[in-house]
Amino acid sequence: MDKVEPLFQCKNLAFHYPLGTVEVPALHALDLTLSPGQMTCFAGPSGSGKSTLLRILGLIEPIQTGDVLYRGTSLKGLSEKQKNQIRRTELGFIFQHFVLFDTLTAVENVEYFLKHRGFSAKEKRERALNALNAVGLGAQARQRPRQMSGGQRQRVAIARALAKDPRVIIADEPTASLDQATGQQIMSLLSELGKTQGVTVVLASHDPMAMSFAQQIVRLKDGHLQAVESRSKLTVAPAAHVAPRTEEAPWCAI
Ligand SMILES: Nc1ncnc2c1ncn2[C@@H]1O[C@H](COP(=O)(O)OP(=O)(O)OP(=O)(O)O)[C@@H](O)[C@H]1O
Ligand SMILES: [Mg+2]
Repeated sequence: MDKVEPLFQCKNLAFHYPLGTVEVPALHALDLTLSPGQMTCFAGPSGSGKSTLLRILGLIEPIQTGDVLYRGTSLKGLSEKQKNQIRRTELGFIFQHFVLFDTLTAVENVEYFLKHRGFSAKEKRERALNALNAVGLGAQARQRPRQMSGGQRQRVAIARALAKDPRVIIADEPTASLDQATGQQIMSLLSELGKTQGVTVVLASHDPMAMSFAQQIVRLKDGHLQAVESRSKLTVAPAAHVAPRTEEAPWCAI
């Protein structure tokens, strides 16, 4: 069997936040591998570094110490333009504190994040509506965020990530504002994306239900990696099933 190339490889990764004259350490000497098509959950107490690690993998925070390889390429040497290209075309974000535009309807909110992708208005609308349907919000497509519940708004934020058809979904506490049943639906949906389309889902969560969907659980404490638990018995889409991408960034052409 061919060896699957890791999607992310963290090597001796450390990170601190500058705070006035002091530095707040957030991650220490982390070595970690994430495989394509797998769902990985970062778990650990508040302040353990889960969101920081997600932001580094999402190319939002810079690499300070150590390195992260994304599909074999070091993120350290990438220009802002290259990073933007990856963020735009390969990564879908579901933030802990989701931000929606109040003046736009749900479908317009989803469409907004498809700009710069070269889609026609019709294609954008189609993608956005499909994504809203996938999260069970087809009927609310023309409502504005303030006319929706917290859970519905969170699902719009999830649809926004799905509509990009990303290679990787990065989700910070995606079920935090959802009731148990809706949370379960959303986790099933994210899990299916991995199994059927090879999408890699990386999430941070305290929620045991959300964690139960992950193939790999990475436990953090005070920025240290405590344990990596693997549930290899669960099915993961083989690399051959990963949908081919047409809009490869030149530097990562395979
Ligand atoms: N912008 C910031 N400036 C300074 N320190 C920060 C900043 N963001 C996070 N930190 C610190 O970095 C450490 C890791 O924070 P992080 O947000 O990654 O934790 P977390 O595991 O996501 O926590 P939570 O479960 O509460 O979301 C904490 O000590 C936190 O106080
Ligand atoms: Mg967090």
